Amino acid sequence: MNPFEELESNVRYYCRRWPAVFSTANGSTIVDEDGNEYLDFFAGAGALSYGHNNPVLVEVAIEHLRAGKILHSLDTFTVEKRRFLESMQRHVLAPRHLDMVVQTVGPTGATAVEAALQLAQRITGNRAVVGFAGSYHGMTYRTASISASMSGRATSAHLKEFVALPFVENVTESDIELLDATLRSTIDGQRIGAVIIEPTQGEGGARPFDPAYLRAIRERCSELGVLVIADEVQAGVGRTGSFFSFESSALDPDIICVSKSISGLGLPMALNLVRRNFDTWAPGEFSGTFRGNNLAFATSATMLETYWADSNLEKGTEQRGLMVRAALEEMSVQFGDSDFVVRGNGLLCGLDVGDTKLAADIAEAAFTRKLIVETCGAGDTTVKLLPPLVIDEEQLADGLARLGEAVAQATSAR
Ligand SMILES: Cc1ncc(COP(=O)(O)O)c(C=O)c1O
Repeated sequence: MNPFEELESNVRYYCRRWPAVFSTANGSTIVDEDGNEYLDFFAGAGALSYGHNNPVLVEVAIEHLRAGKILHSLDTFTVEKRRFLESMQRHVLAPRHLDMVVQTVGPTGATAVEAALQLAQRITGNRAVVGFAGSYHGMTYRTASISASMSGRATSAHLKEFVALPFVENVTESDIELLDATLRSTIDGQRIGAVIIEPTQGEGGARPFDPAYLRAIRERCSELGVLVIADEVQAGVGRTGSFFSFESSALDPDIICVSKSISGLGLPMALNLVRRNFDTWAPGEFSGTFRGNNLAFATSATMLETYWADSNLEKGTEQRGLMVRAALEEMSVQFGDSDFVVRGNGLLCGLDVGDTKLAADIAEAAFTRKLIVETCGAGDTTVKLLPPLVIDEEQLADGLARLGEAVAQATSAR
C-alpha cells in the first residue's frame, strides 16, 4: 500500500510536483529517502528564509527542549516571549521608528490577516475591504475571499464587501483616480475600512508595486480614515532585502502581518504589528490556543539577534538578488523571444514565461535536475525563485545553472 495515495486527501499538491519522499535537510539542500540531494529554491514557500535546520537556531531549539522550558503558553508571560519582544523592539521596530505593539495570533499567516481585518473593522466601524488582483492572503473563508489570486488554486469563497483593484507596476493618473473613487465608494452598502496589500506580491508572481502608488495609498487612506494593512507574510523578514518589503516606499502601514520565516526555523508562528494608538482590542477579544509557541519565540529572538543586529544579511540578499536577476535576464534573452519578463526584488524573483504549460515544464525539468522551484502568478505562468537568504553564492550559481538548463530543455520542446 502507498500510504500517501491511499490515506492522504486528494487535496495534496506540492507532493505531486515533487514526487520524492523527503527525509533530511541542511541549509539550501533537501535530501530524499533514497539519498538524492536537491537544491531548494522554494524554501517552504518562504518559511525557510534562514535555511533548513539553521545550525544556530537548531542549537537554541535543542537547548530549549533539553532544559524543560515552556513550550505552550497561550498568551501568558514567559521568559522566551519577553526575550522575543525585546528583540523585535531592538532589531526591527526601533531602527525603523515604528511605534507598534506586537499581537501574537494563531500560528498561520491567514490568522494574522483575519486579526488585522477584524481590528480594522473595529477601529473604523467599516466592513468593506479593498485589495488587489493577484494577491494571496490565506485559505480561511475571509482571507480566501480577499485573495484575488488568479491561479487555478483560487477558492470559491466569496465575500460581498470586497473589491480588488488592478496590480500597479508603474502608476498613472488613472490608477490614482480609481483608487480614490474606490476608497470613497461603498461596497454592498458598506464603507471601506481597510486596504490590504502585499507591497511585493508573492503568489501573484513576485511583483513589487510601484512605490509611488504605495505612497498614494498612504496619503488617500490617511485622508479618508481608512487603515492600511501590509501583508508581509511572504515578502517580509528579509526576503526582499530589507526586513519589510515596503521599506523603500512611504506606505507606513497601520498593521503589518508577519508569519512564515519569523521563527527562523520554519516553526508555526504569526503575529501582527499594530500602530500603538490603533491597539484598541479589548483583552481576550481576539484569541487562539497556539498564540504562544515558545520554541518559536526562542528561535525567532536568536534569528533577529543573529541576522538583524547589522546590515550584512540585507546587503547579502540584495547582492544575491542581483545575481538571480542577471541570470534570469540572460535566460530571458536567450530563450524568451522577448516575451519573458523578469520580476521581483531581493530573493523574491520570478521569470514570467507567459505560458502555463511552459512554466510547469520548466519546473518539472528543474526537478529532474534536482532543483526545486514552484510556479505562481496569473495563470501560473511565472517560475518563482525563493532560495534561502543564507544560501552561499556557489550554490546559488549552481541552482541558476540548473534552471538555465531546464529553461533550455522546456523551450526547445515547445
Ligand atoms: C502574502 C501571504 N499572506 C498570507 C498567507 C497565508 O499564510 P498561511 O498559509 O500561513 O495561512 C500567505 C501564504 O502563502 C502569503 O503568501
